[in-house]
Amino acid sequence: MDKIVVEGGRQLNGEVKISGAKNAALPVLVAALLTDGWNTFKNVPDLRDIDSTRQLLTHLGAAVERSGETVRINAAGLNNPEAPYDIVRKMRASILVLGPLVARLKRARVSLPGGCAIGARPINLHLKGLAALGAAIDLDHGYVEAKADRLTGADIYFDIPTVTGTENLMMTAVLAHGTTVLRNAAREPEIVALADMLTGMGARIEGAGTSIITIRGVDALNPTTFTVIPDRIEAGTFMVAAALTRGQVTLRGCEPAHLEACTDKLKLAGAKISVEDKGLTVAGGDAFNSVDLRTQPYPGFPTDMQAQFMVLMSVANGLSVISETIFENRFIHVSELRRMGADIRVTGNTAVVRGVSHLSAAPVMASDLRASASLILAGLVAKGSTEVNRVYHLDRGYQAIEKKFAALGAAVRRLPA
Ligand code: EPU
Repeated sequence: MDKIVVEGGRQLNGEVKISGAKNAALPVLVAALLTDGWNTFKNVPDLRDIDSTRQLLTHLGAAVERSGETVRINAAGLNNPEAPYDIVRKMRASILVLGPLVARLKRARVSLPGGCAIGARPINLHLKGLAALGAAIDLDHGYVEAKADRLTGADIYFDIPTVTGTENLMMTAVLAHGTTVLRNAAREPEIVALADMLTGMGARIEGAGTSIITIRGVDALNPTTFTVIPDRIEAGTFMVAAALTRGQVTLRGCEPAHLEACTDKLKLAGAKISVEDKGLTVAGGDAFNSVDLRTQPYPGFPTDMQAQFMVLMSVANGLSVISETIFENRFIHVSELRRMGADIRVTGNTAVVRGVSHLSAAPVMASDLRASASLILAGLVAKGSTEVNRVYHLDRGYQAIEKKFAALGAAVRRLPA
């Protein structure tokens, strides 16, 4: 398996182009199942999760073509209601096909995603919503089976705002009879992007980006063209990298409005940030202040940036308290950071980080996507050569990360297995 080797101590300077967002691309590509005819997607990142989506949609009967950053999908041939274990186990977001399959084929059989390194990650709220729309749900041999001759709009309350749950039910409700109201819906920019895509297909959706989304069902949708929004987590990762190495990096093609929580925390830590249209520049100060943070659903601080921010706090002055409120096991990077000399103590969902003067390189193991990114960040400032193993996690969600870092002056290279 490939590994990434990082020689610490180089400042990052220059410009980096932010790719399309993984978590926005996945649901919009799946939404192509809701109509026949060619949909066109632009700014699609080149990632392993996108390949898994292509494999899944093809398995279901859709035609998928890719040329550079453009993907075209035609679901006229959609005929297979089953998402098999072999694909779902590689990518939990495969559960997104559940609602669209029921809406188009009246039935779906989707392997139940298991837990993953960061938590149990149940899908009970997806299923509760689908049942409210009229689907009969069974769990059988590790698969969710859902059937509905007719889907009818309903009032659905989420106990917890769930991103893919909200997306799944939006995609189901657009073809249901009558009106659906999603309450306590997720408000992430990826939800707004999906609503924009569906609206472009002829769906009637109001309130995306707020906690109440109203969807008036239509009989059929049309193919459309959609540009994937920039990846706010990739952007946030480069923002932390710039600050951490005390360099100056301009991010091109990002959406500063989606980055406010990160911008705020980085400024409090001492970084200088100037915002431009579709871009921003981050410059690291001489030293960092400790800052506390608590992960929250959007617009709060994203759980997908917690590990990266913890690296910055590991070398800041003083004590930082980091609370993870979204996933129950998202501190798996802590033991690896400790091996690099970080002083971090975890009690329950809280990590107390006491800044140290420097980190020291060590071989480390990536355990999930964002934890992997945090280990590269740690390598950028550690003394010596850090080896990050199991990088397939990174390839799921960061496009050419080692090349982007290298272009900014970092000594980061991939060693093939
Ligand atoms: N939850 C339930 N029941 C459900 C669904 C969710 O209890 O039916 C709980 C989860 O266990 C969690 C909370 O609700 O405690 C929020 O989870 P959510 O459903 O919002 O997460 P998700 O949709 O599975 C997406 C992203 C994640 C990101 C989270 C939180 C995609 C494909 N994935 O996951 O991204 O961390 O939202 O923002 O959009 C990543 O990119 O590395 C990643 C893990």
